Amino acid sequence: MKILKGEIISNEKYGPDVYKMEVFSPYIVKNALPGQFLMVRCSSEDILDPLLRRPISIFNTEESFKVFSLLYLVKGRGTEFLSGLKKGDALDFVGPLGKECKLDYGTDVNNVLIGGGIGIAPLYMIAKQLMKKGCRGTFIAGFRDSPYYGFDKDMIDLGISHQIYCEKDLSRNIGLATDYLRDHIAEMDNSSVYCCGPKPMLAKIQDILKDQDIKVIGLLEEVMACGIGVCKGCAVKVKEKEGFGYKNVCSEGPSFDLKEVLF
Ligand SMILES: Cc1cc2nc3c(=O)[nH]c(=O)nc-3n(C[C@H](O)[C@H](O)[C@H](O)COP(=O)(O)OP(=O)(O)OC[C@H]3O[C@@H](n4cnc5c(N)ncnc54)[C@H](O)[C@@H]3O)c2cc1C
Ligand code: FES
Repeated sequence: MKILKGEIISNEKYGPDVYKMEVFSPYIVKNALPGQFLMVRCSSEDILDPLLRRPISIFNTEESFKVFSLLYLVKGRGTEFLSGLKKGDALDFVGPLGKECKLDYGTDVNNVLIGGGIGIAPLYMIAKQLMKKGCRGTFIAGFRDSPYYGFDKDMIDLGISHQIYCEKDLSRNIGLATDYLRDHIAEMDNSSVYCCGPKPMLAKIQDILKDQDIKVIGLLEEVMACGIGVCKGCAVKVKEKEGFGYKNVCSEGPSFDLKEVLF
């Protein structure tokens, strides 16, 4: 983990209020592992406002260009600041942070990746790694109003089959990403599920899969201050042998056995 600066190569719209930013950084490209994130400074050098860095997942790394990318949704002041950065500006970030998401490379395993909205961001690196190892997978994305414009192309480039669920776009599967699990529950033997998205979506996945003997990894998102396990601001409640305990999303996650998480 290092405090770094990288030159922004591009920062372009990827969907409504969603941007993809590409940054030159040989260090991140060499060291980033699936599931990891960066704490990104979201203010200019002379103004420390907002003071706290914002956690953003590493969306992709491109070995040949030494470029990594972030996919982010403009939510508040920090991400608004990021959306205003231009090609040639410097991005200031700390990382890579968090634990590697451990993947199951069995070629007979049916990998199902489920992302809700911007929850697709940390799943891309996971899907890419699985595809690289010759594994089978399906990427399911759920979007409320309309799909992110860049998503279909990224999936085609990855060579992974994908399906989009949308609540309003009639050209897609109408409904929620979790409907996929409901409809395919009988085929879920020997599956591994990786998911990221809003808490109600993760709680629903936990409920649908509670009786299935399959691995379900949830990538959790909590508001973070330090990003390195010091402030305890990102703690989540998890089942333990006797009762429950707390784990830091930043230093012990963000990937957790979803069946152990207490929402
Ligand atoms: C490990 C991790 C990885 C993440 N990866 C991505 C990513 O790849 N792309 C992306 O767009 N976002 C990601 N997020 C969420 C992102 O960090 C927040 O959206 C961001 O911090 C909001 O900052 P802001 O200053 O724009 O908004 P703020 O002004 O800080 O907040 C605006 C609104 O967003 C809510 N919010 C703040 N932080 C979070 C959070 N961590 N999760 C959910 N809601 C939040 C606030 O409660 C408030 O309602 C990730 C979060 C974590 C913990
Ligand atoms: S953000 Fe400080 S302990 Fe996780």
